[in-house]
Amino acid sequence: MRAPLAVNRTFAAAKHLLPRSLLGRSLLIIVTPLILLQVISTIIFYDRHWDTVTRRLVGGFTGEVSALIRLLDENPTPEGQADIVELARNNLNLQITIKPGEVLSPDMPTVTGDGILERTLVHQFNDRVRRPVTFDTASYERLIEVNVQLPDAVLQIFVPRKRLFSSTTYIFVMWMVGSSLILFAVATLFMRNQVRPIRRLAIAADDFGKGRDHPEFKPAGATEVRQASAAFLDMRDRIQRQISQRTDMLSGVSHDLRTPLTRMRLQLALLPQSDGIAELRSDIAEMERMIDGYLAFARGEDEESAVEIDLGALLGEVASAARRNGEDVTLKAEEALRLTVRPTAMKRALTNLVENAARHGDHIRITAQRDRKAVEVAVEDDGPGIPEEQRTEVFRPFYRIERSRNPETGGVGLGLAIARDTVRRHGGEISLGTSEMGGLLATVRLPL
Ligand SMILES: Nc1ncnc2c1ncn2[C@@H]1O[C@H](COP(=O)(O)OP(=O)(O)OP(=O)(O)O)[C@@H](O)[C@H]1O
Ligand SMILES: [Mg+2]
Repeated sequence: MRAPLAVNRTFAAAKHLLPRSLLGRSLLIIVTPLILLQVISTIIFYDRHWDTVTRRLVGGFTGEVSALIRLLDENPTPEGQADIVELARNNLNLQITIKPGEVLSPDMPTVTGDGILERTLVHQFNDRVRRPVTFDTASYERLIEVNVQLPDAVLQIFVPRKRLFSSTTYIFVMWMVGSSLILFAVATLFMRNQVRPIRRLAIAADDFGKGRDHPEFKPAGATEVRQASAAFLDMRDRIQRQISQRTDMLSGVSHDLRTPLTRMRLQLALLPQSDGIAELRSDIAEMERMIDGYLAFARGEDEESAVEIDLGALLGEVASAARRNGEDVTLKAEEALRLTVRPTAMKRALTNLVENAARHGDHIRITAQRDRKAVEVAVEDDGPGIPEEQRTEVFRPFYRIERSRNPETGGVGLGLAIARDTVRRHGGEISLGTSEMGGLLATVRLPL
């Protein structure tokens, strides 16, 4: 049972080394078997081919050398030997010299090196020449020196290395590597085109979640990618339809409720004044405020499109509006917080947070900064804050901690609900905490 565990661990370790992108992975899948195949076939083919070619070339050379030895034996005169030297040079491309009186050591053969060429030479000369012989394959770049013992002389032969050794191997290997590279380049090119529509789909889906639309996005690429893109587009339309249906219906209802409410208010005005009537009147006023608040929100949600803005400038407008109302506001925003948002909706959401801080505290601090993935805006005050167990509830529409419904101490209770709705439609999140200033800390996190 231990072996599979170790194997699993190896795989897990290898996984970290593998490419993460689809492009990298598909290239690996295409190219790895191909290179493996090339390497294996090169090795198998060349092991045999090289052997055979060298054996034949060396065999031819050995035959020539034994023929020369035989001729030299038969023509011992100096003129005859000079003729043979000429013949070797002109017809066999061999430079030979006869060194009379020299003797090679009899422990034959001596050789430099231990490659396939040397082994074949030794083998063939042992078989067919059977005399003391030395080989030097290392001293000259283009020549190989062979010394053969003759009865009373030494025959020195220089043979071009090319005649004994095929260099096509290297050319072949270079072609293999070259063609692999070309193939890799072509595969990269094609795969990149295949991956691009997937990446586009990913970006469109991500941006849709952040409330940014891509009207130019169209299904493209392979069938499966097209299917996924078409499914995404359908889903996007359905979601948009649902949102606008919800908004339409609720604003229709709210709008229609206003007519009977107005009628009630008018009828109340005609009735004789009493305590009960005054309460009814204030209830109706509150219902009208709630409906107005909701309608204002629903109108804001109408088809505003996202544009790139400077969030710092937007926060500056929000802060100066609060200052005009006599609030004490500090704003600290990083430079160049460029972000794609629906500006009116976002401004309204942030204003809601600042208004809350203004209503409950004396000092307001707004800070904005960005990290790698998101922009974070914090609105803090020095008021009483919101107890932890209420921090979910306060986001509910029309929910107020202070239930008196007194317009002096609070609004209709839509501010946080609207702010959260807007932030979420930008793919972000809003959270509440305790500020170091003592009051509420509302943090808005918007993805870049
Ligand atoms: N900064 C804050 N400090 C203390 N309590 C707060 C703060 N912000 C909000 N709250 C509490 O949360 C409740 C809900 O806030 P929300 O903004 O949704 O409604 P509202 O301010 O009452 O009305 P509206 O914003 O619609 O005019 C508020 O009534 C208040 O009790
Ligand atoms: Mg509010």
